[in-house]
Amino acid sequence: MEIYIENKTTDISNIDTESLGIGIYKNNILTSSAKEINEKSNGFLKQILDNFNATLGSSIVLYNIPNIKAKSIVIIGLGNNDKYSLEEHNIAEESLVKTCIKYQIKECYSTIALEADAKDSILFIKNSIITAKGYNYRYTSTIRNIEKTVELKKIVFMIDSNLKDIDRCLLEGTSISEGIYLAKQLGNLPSNICTPTYLANEAKKLEQEFSSIKTNILDIEDISKIGMKSFMSVAKGSLEPLKFIEITYQSNKTKEQPIIIIGKGITFDSGGISLKPSSSMEEMKYDMCGAAAVLGIMKAIARLKINHNIIGLIPACENMPSGSANKPGDVIESMSGKTIEIINTDAEGRLVLCDALTYAKKYDPCLVIDMATLTGACVVSLGSVRTALFSNDKETTDLIFSSSKKVLDYVWEMPLDNAYKEQLKSDFADIKNTGGYSAGCVTAACFLSEFVDKYKWVHLDIAGTAWDKANKKGATGRPVALITQFLLDKTNAN
Ligand code: BES
Ligand code: MN
Ligand code: ZN
Repeated sequence: MEIYIENKTTDISNIDTESLGIGIYKNNILTSSAKEINEKSNGFLKQILDNFNATLGSSIVLYNIPNIKAKSIVIIGLGNNDKYSLEEHNIAEESLVKTCIKYQIKECYSTIALEADAKDSILFIKNSIITAKGYNYRYTSTIRNIEKTVELKKIVFMIDSNLKDIDRCLLEGTSISEGIYLAKQLGNLPSNICTPTYLANEAKKLEQEFSSIKTNILDIEDISKIGMKSFMSVAKGSLEPLKFIEITYQSNKTKEQPIIIIGKGITFDSGGISLKPSSSMEEMKYDMCGAAAVLGIMKAIARLKINHNIIGLIPACENMPSGSANKPGDVIESMSGKTIEIINTDAEGRLVLCDALTYAKKYDPCLVIDMATLTGACVVSLGSVRTALFSNDKETTDLIFSSSKKVLDYVWEMPLDNAYKEQLKSDFADIKNTGGYSAGCVTAACFLSEFVDKYKWVHLDIAGTAWDKANKKGATGRPVALITQFLLDKTNAN
């Protein structure tokens, strides 16, 4: 799908295109573009729309409107006209793309973002790009019998003022979209294809594509040498070789302390000896969505030439039951030296992440963010709307909150009180890997916090948000937009 942004210089009735996307508010209140079309067509539009109830996201397609050059007009309901928020805009823009595809329209000029306040128009258009590209995604990699559909090949977003930031907006929108695309693609691939080795090769691809990116792939010998015994213990039940993937993005600020992003890369989580029930177990191919997000973010920031040094770390392996797997009651020693009693082998994410958090220390990072499909309890607490956020730094939390609103990739802050850590006390080791039934999402984060060094740290539990079970089945690419926007905002803040 080709995407363009154009200044609205001409009368929209003169645009020679297959379709124009036009918004209408409820109670038949016309937007400025709808007014233009209505006047040119001598009231034809208003007359036709008399019975159209323009609830948010509703749509109709009209053909052969008198005196209008475009072959068709896609009318999109914008709901009430008291406020037109970014959320509403995204729903409207998604409906436009959906309607075009349904009616086999290949080219569309969208005027919907013209409804935004001038100061917000860049943000609205950036989200339009992310939404349009996101809607257009289809997983086809392992499907032989693909139904051919007519594609929406070109979409042009109209903007009202002569903005010099247009190129930047296009770059940000498309870079974030590409990052999301990569994360979705890797998330959706089955675990027999998307193995730890496959993820390592994806990292190498980034190295080939961008001169600012270098990768370092650690295999069993290297990992064993540095003593990541907790990570290794999870991998040892599987025949699939584990990898520790390191991706370094070097900006022009050579001396700046790096920001580290860590992604949980369990390419399949069977639960191990504490085996999961078979119902929905296929979803555990998504247990590497944190890793996929790291790769997506690295790609986006390299395209954006972000002004920070960023290091991506991915501990990648499978969690499988076998004669060589971890067993409940086993005690292992982490890279930090702390011993861990494994109560449940299905709490494996924290066992791979704790060693990555210890490893991160060697870079003297100014901030470490980990992303993980860590707990089912997180899905119970927050569902698929907000990612759970835990942090030891208020300022970073605030900035992440403000970034999340700009790209509609929401988070909610959860607590890290010491009192929860009581649940992790072990009789046989320094800590145990589960904290019992209550507050599972919090105790998992508390476990990680025990391995966090003096650096600022954010943990994102994306178990509910990384894939969608209900509507558009499959990986969502979250939190690529959130973290890329955060890194952009952090650049501007410094
Ligand atoms: N990968 C799962 C978490 C998960 C479960 C994500 C369902 C999305 C949907 C994780 O490794 C896990 O199994 N966690 C356990 C922890 C428990 C044993 C303390 C869980 O949530 O049940
Ligand atoms: Mn598990
Ligand atoms: Zn898991």
